[in-house]
Amino acid sequence: MEISDTKRQLRAECHQKIQGLSLTEVNEKSARIATAVWALLETSPYRMIGAYFSFGKEVGTEALIRRLLVAGYQVALPVVSSQQSRREMDFRLVEQVEALVPGVFGILEPQHGKVVFPEELEIMLLPGLAFSRTGERLGRGGGYYDRYLAKLPPEVLKIGLAFSEQIVKTIPTAEHDLKVDMVITEEEVIPCRAG
Ligand SMILES: Nc1ncnc2c1ncn2[C@@H]1O[C@H](COP(=O)(O)OP(=O)(O)OP(=O)(O)O)[C@@H](O)[C@H]1O
Ligand SMILES: [Mg+2]
Repeated sequence: MEISDTKRQLRAECHQKIQGLSLTEVNEKSARIATAVWALLETSPYRMIGAYFSFGKEVGTEALIRRLLVAGYQVALPVVSSQQSRREMDFRLVEQVEALVPGVFGILEPQHGKVVFPEELEIMLLPGLAFSRTGERLGRGGGYYDRYLAKLPPEVLKIGLAFSEQIVKTIPTAEHDLKVDMVITEEEVIPCRAG
């Protein structure tokens, strides 16, 4: 079977598992994950955070983003290029959550925020449909994150946020699929960086 077929199958399975979670479960798990992210940030020097604004039954990030902004962190969110064929995204600073507007995929974006260059980011929180304990990541299939991660300096700490149901044994990957350094679920913090 082609790698793209295996990925498609795994996406469908993971999508189904996530849809099986109730909204209450999603909210409770998301709150625990946000608490774990917060605890990690409190013991780290990072101030410039790349994040994502959650959509549907992803690990919710809105409350965390609001809390980070209030605490004076700089938070940048993806803005998908209006030239959809390029399948690229930039990260732009959020001034306030109320000023976000729906982008190409209906996800809220800081479209007029200041562009943050990849080298300026210190830590990045990533969504995903599935992660493995070695840091492999399965996205929604657009390659947006893989393209962006390719531009990111290796020292930027990449953290996947996921419900424990999204942790799988292994994910079929190609050369362009980039790994995360850590996965945080409502149950555990999984370090993935080799060595
Ligand atoms: N750095 C890159 N340069 C060019 N094409 C890329 C790059 N990364 C990924 N792609 C292309 O994007 C497509 C989708 O990739 P893949 O299936 O890995 O998506 P994904 O990881 O699930 O999505 P996302 O990164 O948006 O979360 C593939 O056809 C792949 O060749
Ligand atoms: Mg990929």
